Amino acid sequence: QRELNPALLPLDWLVGTWESDVPGKGVFPTITPFRYTETLHFSHVGQPILNFTFNAFHVESKMPLHRECGFIRMQPETNKVAFIIAQNSGLVEIEEGELKGQQLNLQTHALARISFAKEPHVKQISRLFQLRPDGKLEQTVSMATDNQSMMQHLHITYCRSA
Ligand code: HEM
Repeated sequence: QRELNPALLPLDWLVGTWESDVPGKGVFPTITPFRYTETLHFSHVGQPILNFTFNAFHVESKMPLHRECGFIRMQPETNKVAFIIAQNSGLVEIEEGELKGQQLNLQTHALARISFAKEPHVKQISRLFQLRPDGKLEQTVSMATDNQSMMQHLHITYCRSA
């Protein structure tokens, strides 16, 4: 295991594997509310870049559902963070935001999708990651689509598993 690149020290609290402690909640005005479990994995190979995979599953059947993977970079000498994300739904995305302590607030900076992506199309995503004082990680995701303004879609908490 290589040492974490010093450029990423402000994000050292993310590195490792996180499992949802209780099922996450999914909502949106246009859908039936649902629950899901999710495993997050943040790793590095010594570059000033974190690698990540987010894998979500159906609570009962444990079937794979939503999956994302990508890279995280920080602008040197700043608290600016960029997520470079590919989602299995056919979306690719850049999210950028500011790191404040152990709280990371991100907004879509660029977004593209496959030509045959399911509708409605997502227009904007915002997410908040925060490490809570009790050691749990929390993710909240909101989105705007073709026919809905910015609304919460996901909320989930994770415990460190490795
Ligand atoms: C529905 C986007 C993450 C599960 C949707 C819809 C969109 C969307 C656009 C359709 C809303 C509508 O019909 O008005 C996203 C984005 C995500 C994300 C951008 C990540 C940033 C997840 C995750 C899960 C999930 C992690 C966990 C399983 C669902 C389910 C539905 C849904 C079950 C409703 C059924 C369906 O339309 O397939 N999502 N989603 N989503 N999402 Fe997500």
